Amino acid sequence: MIAVYPGSFDPITSGHLDIIERSSRLYSEVVILVAVNSSKQPAFTLEQRVNMIERAVRSSGLVNVRVESFTSGLLVDHAEQLGGHVIVKGLRAMSDFEYEFQMALLNRRLKSEIETVFLMTASEFSYLSSSIVKELARLGGTISGLVPDVIVDQVRERFAGQIETAGAQRVELS
Ligand code: PNS
Repeated sequence: MIAVYPGSFDPITSGHLDIIERSSRLYSEVVILVAVNSSKQPAFTLEQRVNMIERAVRSSGLVNVRVESFTSGLLVDHAEQLGGHVIVKGLRAMSDFEYEFQMALLNRRLKSEIETVFLMTASEFSYLSSSIVKELARLGGTISGLVPDVIVDQVRERFAGQIETAGAQRVELS
C-alpha cells in the first residue's frame, strides 16, 4: 500500500521525520508530498524544502520513501496520480484536531477511495512545529535535535542575518 504524507515542511522537523519513519514501517511505499499552503508565506523555496527532506530521508537510511511536490490543484488528485491509497497526517495536540478533521472529511468527500490515517506524534515532539523552529532560529536559539541533523546548518544560515538577540531597549519618554 502506498501512503502519501503531505505538508508544507517549511522546514522538515524531527517530528515530521518521526512520522515518516513510522509510516515507512506501516506501508510499502511512502511519498512525501511537499505542497504550497496558500495561507502561508514560506521561508524556504519549494526546491529547498524538497532538498532538505531528501537529505533527511537519505541520512535516516529509509529506502521506501521518496519526495514529490506540487504547486497547484487538489491534494487528493495528486495522491491518486501517485497511486496513493492513504493520506498520512501527524496529530500533536487537540489544537491540530479541528483543522485536520475538517481536511480529512473534505478530502473524503472529494475522493472517498483515499483514506486519511492519523499517527500520534511522539510525546517529545508534541510541542514542535516548523513555525517554532523558524522563530527559535530567528531569535538565535539552538535548533539542534528539533530538525534533522543534516539540515541544522541550512536552517541556521537562512536566519543568520535576522537574528534578534536579547538587549535592553532605551525608550525615550516625552
Ligand atoms: O503542513 P501544512 O501547511 O499543514 O499542510 C497543509 C496542506 C499543504 C497539506 C494543505 O494545505 C493541502 O492539502 N493543500 C493542497 C490543496 C488542497 O487539496 N486543499 C484541500 C481542499 S481546499
